[in-house]
Amino acid sequence: MSASNIAFQKCINPDCGADFDCGQVLFKCPTCGELLDIQYNWDKIKLPGKLSDFAKRWANRANPLDFSGVWRFRDLLNFCDDKYKVTIGEGQTILQQNDAVAQYADIKPGRLYLQYEGLNPSGSFKDNGMTASFSHAKMVAATSCACASTGNTSASVALYAHSCGLKATVLIGSGRIAFGKLSQAMDYGAQTIQINGDFDDCMRQVLDVCSRLGLYLLNSLNPFRLEGQKTIMYRIIEGLRWEVPDWIVVPGGNLGNSSAFGKAFYELKQLGLIERIPRMAIINATGADTLTDLINNKKLTWNNGKVNQKIIDDYYAGLSARNFSPHTCASAIEIAHPVNLKKCLRSIDICNAVCRAVTDEEILDAKAIIGRHGLGCEPASAATIAGLRNLRAEGVIDADERIACVLTGHPLKDPNVTVNYHKENQGQFSNPPIEAPNDIDEIIKLIN
Ligand code: F0G
Repeated sequence: MSASNIAFQKCINPDCGADFDCGQVLFKCPTCGELLDIQYNWDKIKLPGKLSDFAKRWANRANPLDFSGVWRFRDLLNFCDDKYKVTIGEGQTILQQNDAVAQYADIKPGRLYLQYEGLNPSGSFKDNGMTASFSHAKMVAATSCACASTGNTSASVALYAHSCGLKATVLIGSGRIAFGKLSQAMDYGAQTIQINGDFDDCMRQVLDVCSRLGLYLLNSLNPFRLEGQKTIMYRIIEGLRWEVPDWIVVPGGNLGNSSAFGKAFYELKQLGLIERIPRMAIINATGADTLTDLINNKKLTWNNGKVNQKIIDDYYAGLSARNFSPHTCASAIEIAHPVNLKKCLRSIDICNAVCRAVTDEEILDAKAIIGRHGLGCEPASAATIAGLRNLRAEGVIDADERIACVLTGHPLKDPNVTVNYHKENQGQFSNPPIEAPNDIDEIIKLIN
């Protein structure tokens, strides 16, 4: 059966609920302007009897789709025929149990796992989503694409675009992007436009650019991208020998991941492939804490899809009135107007999630611990461990619960933050280099 009969786009607003064919390029519901989801006629899809059956595809790794950590699970994101599917080997990521990091967060040995999404081809989790959205772009025969980015989206877009022959334009905020990410966009050959503004400005502009020039949009408003990001959760379950953890901890920026993860678990539960849904903790930086503020202080909820828009409008009006621009050392999540806010509210409902904000100091210390005892990560990713530590201190998470933290980006994405932390003794785990004369005896004296 052709995939176009089994998947469709659907507006998330229950008062609208309009359906659209997957062959249409839409990034918001044309009827009411709300976000779109990809939905499936599951009764027309042949699914494995149990999740562990997906492991059989490991035996067939010579097939690039079975090798891909995204397309290995393709039956759960069945929106296009195989002939359109793009893969560059994304999703070869690991789930590492890490007791030293667990100790820092006051979690018992054997209970904390780190999901290293920095091991993807472009060095961040974004590749999970891009492999899916570029497959859709090929299905609709797009030739040019664009995105706004705090850096990782642009790196991933640039890499996938050059593998599939699309022309890519990326919009980034001037001075708001880590060097590793900027270097990738340029090196992979994307047209890189630096705007005198922040990510939210870039996001507004790219929407206009895409609609005026007919470019294919690759931000997480693109619902096909989020389908790919669901597979991060499948791989965590796979890494736990097909068991569900008690908690997923994820950084919150534009809220694509948290939205995708909630959808992944909801679908698996509906399909009878898991017995329970884990709880989720979404961690903002204090300098970009729109979600945390709206949830914890303004009491915004999903409310079965009837979200109180006035709370959101008043909140954003307040930000504009004081000319607010977000600021955090975790530049990846330096976002004040998260585009997936409503889908994230739905995930919060599905996963009984909590939201917290952590300071830059907490992020940097947690990052140094992940570097010292694990494989390292970029600042936004370390917000997970900082948030987990605080939630543990609050007693929200128990020391013997099983927790998976999603480390979203590679440590080399943002070398400046790391070098400054260590060289300038910015935190309790700084490990600055020692100056030495060019003399063997002096060097030996220094080694301890
Ligand atoms: N971690 C990293 C390393 C990121 O690059 C991002 C987002 C996030 C977390 C937040 O994820 O948006 O799903 O809540 N980076 C985007 C970008 C915004 O443009 O690269 P989210």
